[in-house]
Amino acid sequence: MSDESVAEEVQTRRKFLSRLSLGLSGLAAAVVSVPIIAYLLSPLLRPALQVWRDVGTVDSFRVGATVEVAIEEPSPLPWAGQTALTAVWLRRAGAREFIAFAVNCTHLGCPVNWRAEAQLFLCPCHGGVYYADGTVAGGPPQRLLRYDVRIADGDRVEVLTRPLTFT
Ligand code: FES
Repeated sequence: MSDESVAEEVQTRRKFLSRLSLGLSGLAAAVVSVPIIAYLLSPLLRPALQVWRDVGTVDSFRVGATVEVAIEEPSPLPWAGQTALTAVWLRRAGAREFIAFAVNCTHLGCPVNWRAEAQLFLCPCHGGVYYADGTVAGGPPQRLLRYDVRIADGDRVEVLTRPLTFT
Protein backbone atom coordinates (compact mmCIF):
# COMPACT_ATOMS: atom_id res chain seq x y z
CA MET A 1 0.00 0.00 0.00
CA SER A 2 1.38 3.37 -0.99
CA ASP A 3 1.86 6.28 1.38
CA GLU A 4 -0.80 8.23 -0.49
CA SER A 5 -3.48 5.54 -0.14
CA VAL A 6 -2.64 5.13 3.58
CA ALA A 7 -2.99 8.88 4.07
CA GLU A 8 -6.28 8.83 2.15
CA GLU A 9 -7.59 5.96 4.27
CA VAL A 10 -6.63 7.78 7.48
CA GLN A 11 -8.35 10.89 6.19
CA THR A 12 -11.55 8.95 5.37
CA ARG A 13 -11.54 7.25 8.77
CA ARG A 14 -11.01 10.61 10.47
CA LYS A 15 -13.97 12.09 8.56
CA PHE A 16 -16.16 9.12 9.48
CA LEU A 17 -15.26 9.33 13.18
CA SER A 18 -15.78 13.08 13.14
CA ARG A 19 -19.28 12.69 11.66
CA LEU A 20 -20.11 9.85 14.06
CA SER A 21 -19.01 12.00 16.98
CA LEU A 22 -21.19 14.90 15.79
CA GLY A 23 -24.17 12.58 15.30
CA LEU A 24 -23.83 11.06 18.76
CA SER A 25 -23.43 14.51 20.31
CA GLY A 26 -26.61 15.66 18.58
CA LEU A 27 -28.46 12.58 19.81
CA ALA A 28 -27.25 13.13 23.37
CA ALA A 29 -28.32 16.79 23.20
CA ALA A 30 -31.79 15.75 21.99
CA VAL A 31 -32.15 13.15 24.76
CA VAL A 32 -31.31 15.80 27.37
CA SER A 33 -33.21 18.74 25.90
CA VAL A 34 -36.53 17.19 24.80
CA PRO A 35 -37.77 16.49 28.37
CA ILE A 36 -36.65 19.95 29.48
CA ILE A 37 -38.49 21.63 26.62
CA ALA A 38 -41.57 19.46 27.24
CA TYR A 39 -41.49 20.46 30.92
CA LEU A 40 -41.23 24.15 30.07
CA LEU A 41 -44.09 23.94 27.57
CA SER A 42 -46.31 21.67 29.69
CA PRO A 43 -48.42 24.52 31.15
CA LEU A 44 -49.39 25.45 27.58
CA LEU A 45 -50.06 21.88 26.53
CA ARG A 46 -52.25 20.82 29.43
CA PRO A 47 -56.04 20.97 29.20
CA ALA A 48 -58.08 23.39 31.31
CA LEU A 49 -56.87 23.15 34.88
CA GLN A 50 -60.11 24.17 36.54
CA VAL A 51 -62.67 21.40 36.40
CA TRP A 52 -65.88 20.82 38.33
CA ARG A 53 -65.75 17.35 39.92
CA ASP A 54 -68.88 15.59 41.09
CA VAL A 55 -68.47 14.21 44.61
CA GLY A 56 -71.97 12.92 45.33
CA THR A 57 -75.50 13.95 46.19
CA VAL A 58 -76.30 16.63 48.77
CA ASP A 59 -77.96 14.10 51.06
CA SER A 60 -74.96 11.79 51.08
CA PHE A 61 -73.31 14.33 53.44
CA ARG A 62 -74.44 14.97 57.01
CA VAL A 63 -74.94 18.59 58.06
CA GLY A 64 -72.00 19.69 60.24
CA ALA A 65 -69.76 16.77 59.24
CA THR A 66 -66.36 17.16 57.54
CA VAL A 67 -65.41 14.20 55.39
CA GLU A 68 -62.64 13.35 52.97
CA VAL A 69 -63.79 12.86 49.37
CA ALA A 70 -61.66 11.58 46.50
CA ILE A 71 -61.44 13.61 43.30
CA GLU A 72 -59.42 13.32 40.15
CA GLU A 73 -56.57 15.79 39.85
CA PRO A 74 -57.44 18.53 37.31
CA SER A 75 -54.69 17.76 34.82
CA PRO A 76 -53.84 14.08 35.10
CA LEU A 77 -51.15 12.84 32.79
CA PRO A 78 -52.17 9.90 30.61
CA TRP A 79 -49.93 7.53 32.55
CA ALA A 80 -50.80 8.93 36.01
CA GLY A 81 -53.08 6.02 36.92
CA GLN A 82 -53.87 5.88 40.64
CA THR A 83 -51.72 8.95 41.33
CA ALA A 84 -54.26 11.13 39.49
CA LEU A 85 -56.56 10.72 42.48
CA THR A 86 -56.39 13.29 45.22
CA ALA A 87 -58.83 14.39 47.90
CA VAL A 88 -60.51 17.36 49.52
CA TRP A 89 -62.03 17.84 52.95
CA LEU A 90 -65.70 18.61 52.38
CA ARG A 91 -67.95 20.05 55.09
CA ARG A 92 -71.70 20.35 54.79
CA ALA A 93 -72.16 23.62 56.64
CA GLY A 94 -75.90 23.89 56.06
CA ALA A 95 -78.80 22.37 54.16
CA ARG A 96 -77.38 23.60 50.85
CA GLU A 97 -74.05 25.05 51.92
CA PHE A 98 -70.71 23.28 51.50
CA ILE A 99 -67.09 24.22 52.15
CA ALA A 100 -64.17 22.36 50.57
CA PHE A 101 -60.62 22.53 51.88
CA ALA A 102 -57.49 21.31 50.15
CA VAL A 103 -56.17 18.14 51.68
CA ASN A 104 -52.60 19.42 51.37
CA CYS A 105 -50.90 21.55 53.99
CA THR A 106 -49.85 24.96 52.67
CA HIS A 107 -46.38 24.58 54.17
CA LEU A 108 -44.88 21.72 52.16
CA GLY A 109 -47.92 19.83 50.96
CA CYS A 110 -48.34 16.97 53.44
CA PRO A 111 -51.93 15.71 53.70
CA VAL A 112 -53.70 17.16 56.70
CA ASN A 113 -56.06 15.18 58.94
CA TRP A 114 -59.39 16.39 60.29
CA ARG A 115 -59.88 15.79 64.03
CA ALA A 116 -63.61 16.17 64.64
CA GLU A 117 -63.28 15.92 68.43
CA ALA A 118 -60.91 18.92 68.49
CA GLN A 119 -62.43 20.66 65.44
CA LEU A 120 -58.92 21.07 64.01
CA PHE A 121 -56.97 20.07 60.92
CA LEU A 122 -53.58 18.64 61.91
CA CYS A 123 -50.55 18.29 59.68
CA PRO A 124 -48.35 15.36 60.68
CA CYS A 125 -45.17 16.70 59.08
CA HIS A 126 -44.12 19.83 60.98
CA GLY A 127 -46.90 20.37 63.48
CA GLY A 128 -49.11 22.63 61.40
CA VAL A 129 -52.53 23.14 62.98
CA TYR A 130 -55.57 24.77 61.38
CA TYR A 131 -58.89 25.81 62.88
CA ALA A 132 -62.09 24.45 61.36
CA ASP A 133 -62.35 27.50 59.07
CA GLY A 134 -58.87 26.85 57.65
CA THR A 135 -57.08 29.66 59.49
CA VAL A 136 -53.80 28.81 61.17
CA ALA A 137 -53.80 27.82 64.82
CA GLY A 138 -50.10 26.99 64.98
CA GLY A 139 -46.99 25.91 63.14
CA PRO A 140 -45.39 27.10 59.92
CA PRO A 141 -48.20 26.92 57.33
CA GLN A 142 -50.44 29.65 55.99
CA ARG A 143 -54.22 29.44 55.72
CA LEU A 144 -55.58 26.14 54.34
CA LEU A 145 -56.62 26.54 50.71
CA ARG A 146 -60.27 26.27 49.74
CA TYR A 147 -62.03 25.08 46.61
CA ASP A 148 -65.25 26.52 45.24
CA VAL A 149 -68.27 24.26 45.71
CA ARG A 150 -71.61 24.36 43.95
CA ILE A 151 -74.77 22.33 43.80
CA ALA A 152 -75.58 21.35 40.24
CA ASP A 153 -78.68 19.69 38.78
CA GLY A 154 -80.57 20.19 42.02
CA ASP A 155 -78.70 17.77 44.24
CA ARG A 156 -75.19 17.06 42.91
CA VAL A 157 -72.31 18.51 44.90
CA GLU A 158 -69.41 19.63 42.71
CA VAL A 159 -65.96 20.86 43.67
CA LEU A 160 -63.94 23.15 41.38
CA THR A 161 -60.46 21.65 41.23
CA ARG A 162 -57.37 23.67 40.44
CA PRO A 163 -53.62 23.28 40.79
CA LEU A 164 -52.33 23.97 44.26
CA THR A 165 -49.49 26.33 45.03
CA PHE A 166 -47.29 25.96 48.06
CA THR A 167 -45.22 28.59 49.84
S1 FES B 1 -46.04 20.29 55.63
FE1 FES B 1 -47.55 20.79 57.08
S2 FES B 1 -46.50 21.85 58.61
FE2 FES B 1 -44.98 21.39 57.15
